[in-house]
Amino acid sequence: MSTEHTDRFDAAFHDIAVRHERNWMFIAVTMIALLFIAAVFLVVHDYGVVAKTSAIYSDPNTPSTLADFQGSGVRQTGPDSYSVYEIGRAWSWTPGTATPLQLPVGARVTFYVTSGDVLHGFEIQGTSINLTAIPGVVGEVSYTFDKAGTYMIICNEYCGAGHQAMIGKIVIGGGRS
Ligand code: CUA
Repeated sequence: MSTEHTDRFDAAFHDIAVRHERNWMFIAVTMIALLFIAAVFLVVHDYGVVAKTSAIYSDPNTPSTLADFQGSGVRQTGPDSYSVYEIGRAWSWTPGTATPLQLPVGARVTFYVTSGDVLHGFEIQGTSINLTAIPGVVGEVSYTFDKAGTYMIICNEYCGAGHQAMIGKIVIGGGRS
């Protein structure tokens, strides 16, 4: 029952449907894109917890042999800023476990975190710092310690029999140096 009239009607209807579908597709994709951008923005700017990887080595033992990771592991890089080179080993944090990290109030600290053996989780309680210590990889995360007090470094990645005792200390106090 195909007359010239119904053909023209079908064609006109088809054009309108295509236009509507295109518009709604555009609206849907735009909404998804905006939500995605908003999510990324919130994570980066609101929580500031995006950890960076500063270096990856083919030999997993390399990072713990680097000069920066020797000695106290603490380097002052400015009036209020410090770099801390942190190694997790079963079952201690260096620095932190044998000797507590001592820093002044207001210290802006960039932690460079690696592991000397297996996976560990570097978490400082009461802060946004939480990253995985991976052999052969140096992770990077920054934080400003505005409040005096003792902060506990814990391991939040199961790493063997002593996992629950893998604890370090950061003592913030004594004012700006
Ligand atoms: Cu180290 Cu759990």
